[in-house]
Amino acid sequence: MTTPILMLGAGRLGGALIEGWRRTGAFSPADLMIRDPQPSPAAEDAARGGAWLNPEDGDLARAKTVLMAVKPQIWREAAAEVTPWLASNAVIVSVAAGVATADLSVEFGKRPVARVMPTTAAAIARCTASIFSADPEAFARAHALFEPLGAVVDLADERLMHAATAVSGSSPAYLYAFVEALEAAGEAVGLGPEESRKLARATLTGAAALLAETGADPAELRKQVTSPGGTTAAALEVLTGEGGLGPLLREAVVAATRRSKELGA
Ligand SMILES: NC(=O)c1ccc[n+]([C@@H]2O[C@H](COP(=O)([O-])OP(=O)(O)OC[C@H]3O[C@@H](n4cnc5c(N)ncnc54)[C@H](OP(=O)(O)O)[C@@H]3O)[C@@H](O)[C@H]2O)c1
Repeated sequence: MTTPILMLGAGRLGGALIEGWRRTGAFSPADLMIRDPQPSPAAEDAARGGAWLNPEDGDLARAKTVLMAVKPQIWREAAAEVTPWLASNAVIVSVAAGVATADLSVEFGKRPVARVMPTTAAAIARCTASIFSADPEAFARAHALFEPLGAVVDLADERLMHAATAVSGSSPAYLYAFVEALEAAGEAVGLGPEESRKLARATLTGAAALLAETGADPAELRKQVTSPGGTTAAALEVLTGEGGLGPLLREAVVAATRRSKELGA
């Protein structure tokens, strides 16, 4: 039994999960208990849909799954507030970046623990979730929560969570930065801001949708739109040349991996 799910924190990410579950029908707000001392708009909205907002301590024992979605800086405090009240068989699923399962297990009184690194595209059921757990029950519970929301990748080793954070958790921002840069480049070659904005956004989201829907290899799709000696080839010579996308992204991902390790230490 997965529900009721007790959400510790329902901010940007928690709100995205609630929206995705509601959209897919996986879980409804009525399946949720939400603890958020100063309820976010997402928590208020879920409460209007039937979620139980800020239940009394004595009612926390009803939770079957605890989803920890507060900022990593305050996770120990949030855990300490609820742990004495939880049922002994409650299962913990944490999305807090950099917080290790060994520490979670101690703070949550040795209950089974899983760690997940999701993305906010959960809101439109296009989440990507990296999951690690050494406990089969917690691992299954994390799958039950995140499989309905998109793609799930199981990590065999918790240390890989740093790399998964760099390649997945942080990478929506890389794409948004790419779109911003393309819009600015469009203006630099004479397009008006509105024209450039529309061309860059519609083209890139369309190309991403084609990649997703055809399941084709990106290299194959790239070849299909690149004529030898043509305009695209001229741009790709710059993008894939020395100091181009390959080394640049490697450097970016290494930097994010390093930072994830620092934050988790
Ligand atoms: N956002 C992302 O893209 C993303 C992606 C992957 C993982 N994550 C992880 O998800 C977690 C949440 O991130 P977020 O961006 O959703 O943060 P957020 O928007 O700040 O949401 C956290 C929520 O928890 C509330 N809260 C504060 N203290 C609490 C307590 N003691 N008990 C229960 N709730 C409490 C906060 O209220 P106040 O605002 O009043 O403090 C806020 O509404 C983080 O650990 C992060 O590493 C986020």
